[in-house]
Amino acid sequence: MTQDELKQAVARAAVEYIKPKLHGDDIIGVGTGSTANFFIDYLANIKESFGGAVASSDASADRLREHGIEVFDLNSVDQLVVYVDGADESNHHLELIKGGGAALTREKIVVAAAKEFVCIADESKWVDVLGQFPLPVEVIPMARSYVARELVKLGGDPVYREGVITDNGNVILDVHNMSIIDPKALETAINQITGVVTNGLFARRGADVLLLGTADGVRMLYP
Ligand code: A5P
Repeated sequence: MTQDELKQAVARAAVEYIKPKLHGDDIIGVGTGSTANFFIDYLANIKESFGGAVASSDASADRLREHGIEVFDLNSVDQLVVYVDGADESNHHLELIKGGGAALTREKIVVAAAKEFVCIADESKWVDVLGQFPLPVEVIPMARSYVARELVKLGGDPVYREGVITDNGNVILDVHNMSIIDPKALETAINQITGVVTNGLFARRGADVLLLGTADGVRMLYP
């Protein structure tokens, strides 16, 4: 199976997984990226089963609307029953690296407001130790050089993602060469650097379930 076929398989599995949990007025959180895009496409098949969605990016909001799914501002919603999104890496505790698509801050906010986080990923994302994928850090533009120097002190090798401005008007530093043994501690340490908006470690709030696409089918994994 190709990587896209694995992503499609987990996107379909996620729709099947959430469908029995949904009631008419429920609002769901929807993530960003190629796997989330497949999820949005399949979600359209059950759009009568829920009330609408909150999106973690402008791109996902546009795609949801194209399918006739109503998109809500998070401020007008009490709680999201579920959030479904992809990941760039997951370890065996379902601690994640996210943000390859530069949507990490909104993703983290929508996760925080959701009762359950369902992660969907193909098996290339499943790792023993996080950090092969460069860790994205969203930074206020004027703090870019300062934050980069602080990230070097933490042992990383930050690279400015040139030409990318986030939906929040900020920039991204991708931190290379980090072997992330204690994801929760590193998530906290990076967030404490002045000028950092957030970082792509989803460890303090990782996934509640991972639907992992493999050649042998979709595996359901728990922390
Ligand atoms: C978006 O900012 C990311 O967090 C995505 O969820 C992540 O990059 C996974 O993307 P793909 O589904 O395209 O691999």
